[in-house]
Amino acid sequence: MSRKPFLAGNWKMFKTSAQARQFFSELIKLSPLKDDREVALAVPFPSLEASVAAVADTPIIIAAQNVYFENEGAFTGEVSAPMAAATGARAVILGHSERRQFFGDTGAWVNKKLGAALAAGLIPILCLGESLAEREGGRAFDVLAAQLKEALNGFSAADLASLVIAYEPVWAIGSGKTATPETAQEAHVFIRRHLAEQLGDKTAEAARILYGGSVKPDNIAKLMSQPDIDGALAGGASLDAAAFARIINFDA
Ligand code: PGA
Repeated sequence: MSRKPFLAGNWKMFKTSAQARQFFSELIKLSPLKDDREVALAVPFPSLEASVAAVADTPIIIAAQNVYFENEGAFTGEVSAPMAAATGARAVILGHSERRQFFGDTGAWVNKKLGAALAAGLIPILCLGESLAEREGGRAFDVLAAQLKEALNGFSAADLASLVIAYEPVWAIGSGKTATPETAQEAHVFIRRHLAEQLGDKTAEAARILYGGSVKPDNIAKLMSQPDIDGALAGGASLDAAAFARIINFDA
C-alpha cells in the first residue's frame, strides 16, 4: 500500500502569533505545496488561531502540541481537545517525550488524551521513543511495545483510522544525532508489526509512521527512502521557513 507522506514540524515553545504569521507568509511564498504529501505544523496554543488563518488558502494542517483529556472543568492552565479543535486546528501531538519527561504525562494519560483527541475529530500524532539507556540496555523494542500497548488500549481499528505515529528516539531529539535511516526503519517495522497484532493488517498498513529526532533538510531524503518511514516530525529545523520548505519539498 502506498501511504501519503506526512511532513510535520513541532515548534515546541517557540514563536509568538506575530512570528507565526511571519513564518507562514515566508513558507507560502517559498513553497508551492506538492499534492503528493501532507504538511502539518504544531504550534503553541496562543498561535493556533493566527496560524489557522495564515494557512487558510493552503492545505497545511495546523496542530496543537498537547491537550488535556477532560473537555472542560476546573483544570487551571489546561486546554481541552474541543478547545483546540475550535481554533481550526486539525491535529494534535500526543505523548511527546518532553511531555513525558518534564510534565509527568504517563502512558495512561496519553491513552486518555488520545480518546479526547479522537472524540474532538483531531488527527492524533502519537509519539513513542526509547531513551539512550534503554537503547544501550537492549530494551528499545520492549519500551516501544509497552508505550504502544498502553496508548492504544481500548481503541478499535475503526477508532484509529486517522492514527499517525511518530517514532522519536529520545537520544536523537535536539541532539544532532539522527538515527540512521536503517535504525529508524528497523524501529518502524517493529511498530508496524505491533500495530498489525493489536489492530489488524489494514490499520497497520494505513498508519503513517513518522521519524523524529534531528531531521534536517540534508537528511530527509535518505530517511524518506526507507519503505516504512512515511514522514517526519522536525523540531528545530521547523522553526526556519527556508529549512522547513526544504524538508517538505524533499525529492521523492
Ligand atoms: P528535533 O526535535 O528535530 O529538534 O530533534 C524533534 C521533536 O522533538 O519533535
